[in-house]
Amino acid sequence: MSSLFTPFKLKDVTLRNRIAVPPMCVFSATDGFSNDFHWSHYSTLSRGGPGLVIVEATAIAPEGRITPSCLGLWDDAQAEGLAKIAKGIKAGGAVAGIQIGHAGRKANANLPWEGDDHIAKDDPRYWETISPSPVAFGGGLPRIPKEMTVEDIARVRLDFVAAARRARDAGFEWLELHFAHGYLGQSFFSVHANQRTDEYGGDLAGRSRFLLETLAAVREVWPENLPLTARFGVIEYDGRDAETLAEAIELARKFRAGGLDLLNVSVGFSTPHADIPWGPAFLTPVAERVRHKAGMPVASSWNIDTPALAEHAVAAGQLDLVMIGRVHLSNPHWTYQAAQSLHIDKPDWVLPAPYAHWLERYKRNS
Ligand SMILES: Cc1cc2nc3c(=O)[nH]c(=O)nc-3n(C[C@H](O)[C@H](O)[C@H](O)COP(=O)(O)O)c2cc1C
Repeated sequence: MSSLFTPFKLKDVTLRNRIAVPPMCVFSATDGFSNDFHWSHYSTLSRGGPGLVIVEATAIAPEGRITPSCLGLWDDAQAEGLAKIAKGIKAGGAVAGIQIGHAGRKANANLPWEGDDHIAKDDPRYWETISPSPVAFGGGLPRIPKEMTVEDIARVRLDFVAAARRARDAGFEWLELHFAHGYLGQSFFSVHANQRTDEYGGDLAGRSRFLLETLAAVREVWPENLPLTARFGVIEYDGRDAETLAEAIELARKFRAGGLDLLNVSVGFSTPHADIPWGPAFLTPVAERVRHKAGMPVASSWNIDTPALAEHAVAAGQLDLVMIGRVHLSNPHWTYQAAQSLHIDKPDWVLPAPYAHWLERYKRNS
């Protein structure tokens, strides 16, 4: 009996198994608008069998895009293409999720395959970046961002709410707030980025304020019966990990009390000076700790790339949901093949009948 291939129910949504495709930017949008490639990409991923497909980081404001080719949801017109993508995901049998966020001081970067660094000031694609404090990320992202005023903070919160409402109306049934990876949400929490002396900085309560206020505001518009989740970096691997993790667990408890249904546990990526212990499923024990200490369902990813690792993470009670990222890009049918390698004898758990029937017959006859 596989744990990975048992359904997962959260609120009124049931995933057919515990495998999710995490948000992964494909950097193919124009002015924040999606196109047929996005539709084809996400539909294909869903058809391969995961329980959940989460559309990539989608910016709540133009200046919140990581690159000029990132998706956006700051305009009603952008919701049209995303509604088509949500339909495509549902048609493949997965639940349609979307991640909304703001890239903060890491915004306005060149594409990963064009340098991954900040766009030069004299480039027509340049825009000003914002962050809690005028502190650069460093490394390839050396630009000093504009310090957000309290009015900026209120505006961004409203932009999150408007994007969440558009995502709801576009038919998404799973919302993920991007509070991770050194982008704006993570930057409010991180002492690497947040040096404010007002109520949005300082102690944990101050550095949590933007995140909790944003969650509360989105909770107002996101349907109570659908999962509201967040991705959050709980550790930086910067030498002060015990302190960061303790604070992150305290904040996760507040997220839960504030109506968050699941935490997608990730790395902070708030500093280029981190020593990340890359290796198979390296973050899973950290996510397990958050799951038990914060008392809420968790998902996580990072190098969980074999069916055995994924099965173990769920069977051992480390994760409720396993996010399988990069291997899905090279093999959209990873889930189906995982079911085969774990000897799941009912491929219709993971594949629609038109495929499952013929593949079973082919197996019998070959
Ligand atoms: C091309 C690419 C784009 C990504 N874009 C996002 C994103 O939009 N939002 C996000 O939270 N994480 C993003 N990530 C991180 C992935 O969601 C995932 O956590 C990471 O790839 C590790 O999981 P894996 O080892 O299974 O690939 C991205 C990763 C890749 C490789």
